[in-house]
Amino acid sequence: MLVGLETSDDAGVYRLNDEMALVQTVDFFTPIVDDPFTFGQVAAANALSDVYAMGGTPLTAMNLVAFPIQTLSSSILKEILRGGLSKIDEAGVALVGGHTIEDQEIKYGLSVTGIVHPDKILSNAKAVAGDKLVVTKPLGTGIISTALKGEMASEKAVKEMVETMIALNQKASERMKAFGAHACTDITGFGFIGHALEMVMASRIGMVIDSKKIPLLSGVMEYAGLGLIPGGAHSNRRFYSCRVEVNSSVSNLLMDILYDPQTSGGLLISLPSGQAEALVEALKREGGVNTSIIGEVVAEPEGKIRIT
Ligand code: CO
Ligand code: CO
Repeated sequence: MLVGLETSDDAGVYRLNDEMALVQTVDFFTPIVDDPFTFGQVAAANALSDVYAMGGTPLTAMNLVAFPIQTLSSSILKEILRGGLSKIDEAGVALVGGHTIEDQEIKYGLSVTGIVHPDKILSNAKAVAGDKLVVTKPLGTGIISTALKGEMASEKAVKEMVETMIALNQKASERMKAFGAHACTDITGFGFIGHALEMVMASRIGMVIDSKKIPLLSGVMEYAGLGLIPGGAHSNRRFYSCRVEVNSSVSNLLMDILYDPQTSGGLLISLPSGQAEALVEALKREGGVNTSIIGEVVAEPEGKIRIT
């Protein structure tokens, strides 16, 4: 076992031989958008992301489905699976099977298996002081989906959120490897701060984050201001804030966004400072408009994140 449970990483990594290791992950959840095809796309992009975050290449996937077969039309299930397959195909991954159970509540996701060279694993444990930090997607999917549930989200905000969530982290993963990234994780349920802290703890470093550089989804500040904050953001704040130092100039609303749980979020990449601009430029050329350098890795204080 090369990467196991102890560093809270994105996927497990198991050595097969000197040239190859298996990368394995599983992820599934309840719908966060109404459209079944879109939900399938989001869930598949989210599950594939953990392999990309390890620097791996996903090869095969299996569907995991819970569905109320007695009460809902099977056409909905077909659309969910079709949405998932569209992302599996886009990723160049083979769907090799799956399993469906009857359940009151719809749930969908994938188990994904990939490969990585054992020397090229991008865990969250190898960030070093002096590295720059890059994120590849805007934050705020939890807050926008809360606004959507409350029927308060604008069409523009929802469209942008969906585009963000269905985007694969494939290109970002390929590029970060080419630019010599040291460490990576994807930003999901524990929010930006929670996942950044996983890297902080595993790498035994600290981080300084420039709050003005954080890319945000449209409308997210407005909805946060209306108190449309998901419960997960509050529990993330309760759990992680003891390791976060916030400058007085940073608004509380922005902190809500930094704790907001993300679905199918972007990658948080730690890479040599000389490479950061080039990575951002390369990803912007390929459509990653929200890719930004948002801070840096510091040696001290270890185990803390400072937000400026
Ligand atoms: Co992850
Ligand atoms: Co995951």
